[in-house]
Amino acid sequence: MSVNVLVGIQWGDEGKGKIIDVLTSAAEMVVRFQGGNNAGHTVENGDEKHVLHLVPSGILRPGVPCVIGNGVVVDPIELKKEMELLRDRGVDISSIQVSSRCQLIMPWHKLLDAFNESSAAKKGKKIGTTLRGIGPAYTYKVARTGIRGGEILNKEAFKQRFMEQGEAYNKLYVPAGATELDLEAAWKDLEPALDFVKPYIRDTVVTINEAAQAGKKVLLEGAQGMFLDIDHGTYPFVTSSNTTTGGACTGTGLSPRAVTRVWGVIKAYTTRVGEGPFPTELFDDMGEHLRTKGGEFGATTGRPRRCGWFDAVACRYSCMVNGVDYLAVTKLDVLDGLDTVKMCVGYKINGEIVRDFPAEACSFSDLEPVYEDLPGWKESTENARSFEELPVNAQKYLERMAKEVNAKIGIISVGPKRDQTFALIPDCLG
Ligand code: GDP
Ligand code: IMO
Ligand code: MG
Repeated sequence: MSVNVLVGIQWGDEGKGKIIDVLTSAAEMVVRFQGGNNAGHTVENGDEKHVLHLVPSGILRPGVPCVIGNGVVVDPIELKKEMELLRDRGVDISSIQVSSRCQLIMPWHKLLDAFNESSAAKKGKKIGTTLRGIGPAYTYKVARTGIRGGEILNKEAFKQRFMEQGEAYNKLYVPAGATELDLEAAWKDLEPALDFVKPYIRDTVVTINEAAQAGKKVLLEGAQGMFLDIDHGTYPFVTSSNTTTGGACTGTGLSPRAVTRVWGVIKAYTTRVGEGPFPTELFDDMGEHLRTKGGEFGATTGRPRRCGWFDAVACRYSCMVNGVDYLAVTKLDVLDGLDTVKMCVGYKINGEIVRDFPAEACSFSDLEPVYEDLPGWKESTENARSFEELPVNAQKYLERMAKEVNAKIGIISVGPKRDQTFALIPDCLG
């Protein structure tokens, strides 16, 4: 079997979309397993730039089935828009499959996301969500009241559930201050999207397992990143799904025994969007430099990303939880031209040096990163196509990174384009 899982090692936006697209040249199926259209995965394909939110990043390689697995929360209106946009750009969307077990994001989930965030903001406690209804949709799933993809197949029953749940939302939340939903208008918006998505609904647990058992090269595409994981992230400043490797099994219906390789996508520095702890965040000119040079603005919401140095403490913890076999290091080129590059190798908490990532949010309020200064490199890495072609100090930086996080480097990315990538191992999906 060949089932590769690819996850983000930091706070998301590591460049997962680009690496998935590169790996898809050899893949035979690509599957999203969690999250929803909170994700923004950028793929630069020739002169074209695509930002994918729900559709797997393998879609730009014709003939590769792209599956939205059962662990994903799907907004039918947004999925229709994304698929139509791709189709209008000449992309073949006929291979898309949507799980009958996925949870659907309904209009009240989006209103609840906004209501929860504005209520929390009044107390200075907002999460800074993408406002796509992700958290409320997963809340309904766990409460066992969610509407699933398969229910689209029976529109009459669907409409009844829609009206009942919409009314329940209006009764429960509008008196508390949430926006009232005009149910007839909301149904009118939703119905064409349901009709559009209907032909793509499948029992994807079966199609994914059949592909894996037939020896097809299956690539499981994570969204967000380790520290946004609902269990392992910087709770409560997280998303509402398991973004780590474990989520790849529950979100597809594949057994853990099926997974043959884990890829961890890791940015050569760190970024975060939204609120929450970020030990190596920079508030100075260097932070601004990374943001500008790295184009660090959210692919989904356009918000400026918070930027900082590479955090080896956090990434070592992340590689452990994810069981990373190989790293795909991205955005090395953004560090070109610096005299010194800093790497965080420990945390000082209450005067003590700590080398494990703390579980408690309170530990972050008195956290000071312990940095090591590494010599930078003046040369551009953008045209390097092998490890040996990189400046010596860039090689040393990568070697140090791999040693600190306890994982091997398999791929290096030195620019947003497909060809600005090289592998250090043969047959990447082996
Ligand atoms: P994802 O959410 O993990 O897929 O990442 P995003 O697409 O949100 O953000 C990554 C950004 O960096 C995108 O604009 C990519 O085009 C870009 N990118 C990816 N790899 C590289 C790289 O190696 N160098 C540079 N300069 N940009 C990259
Ligand atoms: P990709 O897949 C970066 C962040 C939001 C917020 C928190 C919760 O492109 O890496 P949510 O809307 O999920 O309830 O928001 O998670 N967040 C992301 N940050 N990249 C993402 O996805 C993200 N998806 C959600 O900014 O802090
Ligand atoms: Mg992104």
